[in-house]
Amino acid sequence: MKPRVFSGVQPSGDLHIGNYLGALKNWVKLQYDYECIYCIVDLHAVTVYQDPATLRGKISELAALFLAAGIDPRQSVIMVQSSVPAHAELAWMLTCVTPVGWLTRMTQYKAKAEKQETVGDGLLQYPVLMAADILLYQAQIVPVGDDQVQHLELTRDIAQRFNSLYGETFVMPETKLPAVGARIMGLDDPLKKMSKSETASGHAVALLDPPDVIRRKIQRATTDSQPCVDFDALGPGVANLLNIFQAFSEWTDDRMRAHFSGMRYGRLKQEVADMVIAHLEPLQRRYREIAGEPGYVDRVLKEGAERVAPIANATVEAVKRRMGLYVPC
Ligand code: TRP
Repeated sequence: MKPRVFSGVQPSGDLHIGNYLGALKNWVKLQYDYECIYCIVDLHAVTVYQDPATLRGKISELAALFLAAGIDPRQSVIMVQSSVPAHAELAWMLTCVTPVGWLTRMTQYKAKAEKQETVGDGLLQYPVLMAADILLYQAQIVPVGDDQVQHLELTRDIAQRFNSLYGETFVMPETKLPAVGARIMGLDDPLKKMSKSETASGHAVALLDPPDVIRRKIQRATTDSQPCVDFDALGPGVANLLNIFQAFSEWTDDRMRAHFSGMRYGRLKQEVADMVIAHLEPLQRRYREIAGEPGYVDRVLKEGAERVAPIANATVEAVKRRMGLYVPC
């Protein structure tokens, strides 16, 4: 049997080229060697307030983007977290074996809590729900960005604690950082990772941005005071633009050097914009086809949930038995 992969994305903000090059592109490659479950984590999104109509739209949009990026629903499962109630059920049971101290020291919790006037309990429980997502399917591999490593470690701690209290139940998941996945930085601030929750308009190229918007954002990207590309003294902004180009084109380092050495920044930006547009146009075309086919996305999501629900329910039942909870016969 192929090892199982699980990963999730929140349906909030706009998916951008950093998400594509850092995660989605790898997910597409993984699907032929692993049994992959790609989850739209709507229950995680509502740990901070989301406008209901916007959220509902984002869930379908994200599913259509997964499909447009090349995730094949005959190979992989695409599903929505809340459509398999076992996620929330297992999260409760795991909450009961998780010390509050483990949660209050999570760096992401601290960063998010700082920005809220009142901190919802869901924000604290966020990593427990994430542990439930992973442990429900006994996923061995969890491809995530480095910002999620601490959550993965917590997942293993929770699994271990459950196993030691109630007997061997959960498989220990590994973190899989993308081997070739590029780490794309903000166009406006190349020292910060490109982020979905950043709202400044020049920060990220969204996957659904029209070509003229893409071009404008890249033209305005922060560089430095040098006039042209010097590979021996690359500033972070220029390095980021080159990274974006290389991640899309898959050119070798040698070819990149030969082509871009000494190139003026204006020309570099033009070439980066051309490359990004050339790759996003077909993706956007597929997106429009998929989104325009009535019922297709809903069908994929329904089938996805139906395929994984038996696995998830079996885990919940096993956990209930371990804990002495009532399992109807
Ligand atoms: N917390 C993850 C993020 O924001 C999303 C997520 C939720 C996830 N559940 C998951 C990722 C399970 C991997 C596995 O990026």
